[in-house]
Amino acid sequence: MFQEFTILLFLEYCAGVDVISRASKKEVYLDKTFFMSLENYQVNAKYVTEAQYPWVAKIVHSSSEDIPYMCTAICIDDRVFITAARCIYSLKIKHTRVIYQNVKLPVLTFVLPSIPSKQAFDDIGFIVVQPANTEPVWKKVALYNKKRTDDAFQWFADSNFNNYKVIGYATQKGIHRIKSADRVFNLTELTVIINIELCSKIMTFHDHITGFRVPCYHSCNADEFIKKDPKCSNYHGVEGGAVVSSDGILLGIATWGAYFHKYELPVGFSVVNSNNFYSDFDCAKRIRDSGVNGGYQGICG
Ligand SMILES: *[C@@H]1O[C@H](CO)[C@@H](O)[C@H](O)[C@H]1NC(C)=O
Repeated sequence: MFQEFTILLFLEYCAGVDVISRASKKEVYLDKTFFMSLENYQVNAKYVTEAQYPWVAKIVHSSSEDIPYMCTAICIDDRVFITAARCIYSLKIKHTRVIYQNVKLPVLTFVLPSIPSKQAFDDIGFIVVQPANTEPVWKKVALYNKKRTDDAFQWFADSNFNNYKVIGYATQKGIHRIKSADRVFNLTELTVIINIELCSKIMTFHDHITGFRVPCYHSCNADEFIKKDPKCSNYHGVEGGAVVSSDGILLGIATWGAYFHKYELPVGFSVVNSNNFYSDFDCAKRIRDSGVNGGYQGICG
């Protein structure tokens, strides 16, 4: 309710203000931006199976049950998963389980970003699971490995991202708003368009304010959105959803988006190639290899 109300107010407010001069392309302008959490629903997404995406996992917050579902997670190394950092903040390690290849894995530690971004819009969190006697065969996704060169996403604007889709556990729009622990979340995928324009045009009400020049995807491009193309009503927004290329390379993790009951808005994601990402990943691997149950990342500095 709050979020729906906010975005409505936000759009109406923006419609009435003059164009504010754009911030320099060398910085991400965050003064007028707010990054809300995804509500884990989809519209017209395709049902897929874990066999098709063996690196995908489900985070639940119960040591005994398979519910409640919290977020989607992705296996990137033996016993190491990533998700949206904002998903992990509210979880207790003792209650959290990663359901991966039908095995329920208890958590050893969470690694949260050492250098957080505003409202965690660009933050990936790591989950290291405990060792087990019979471990699953670790199926990992390959990571996008081109280097990110600045904070302002110019490197992102200069890249072309074609043939991408997003995959994650989602429920259906509408019923997702009724709070219920036993809501069914199915693994689904949606083909998406990715570029720097989507959020900077749509979330700023066609440039009436400055901001949101950050990585986003949507089911249609900004021009189609303005023309109300029917395909823009397709949607997939789940915390931790995997943004992958058709050849199976993980570009990023869905982290934020706004809910609006009348139409669908773009979804923001965090790209996996930052220095912070790699230093946190190293930290996760060190904790895994040391076997120390650190809770949060005690041994990484
Ligand atoms: C969604 O998941 C539930 C529970 O896992 C399952 O019973 C149902 O068949 C799934 N629906 C589809 C369309 O795959």
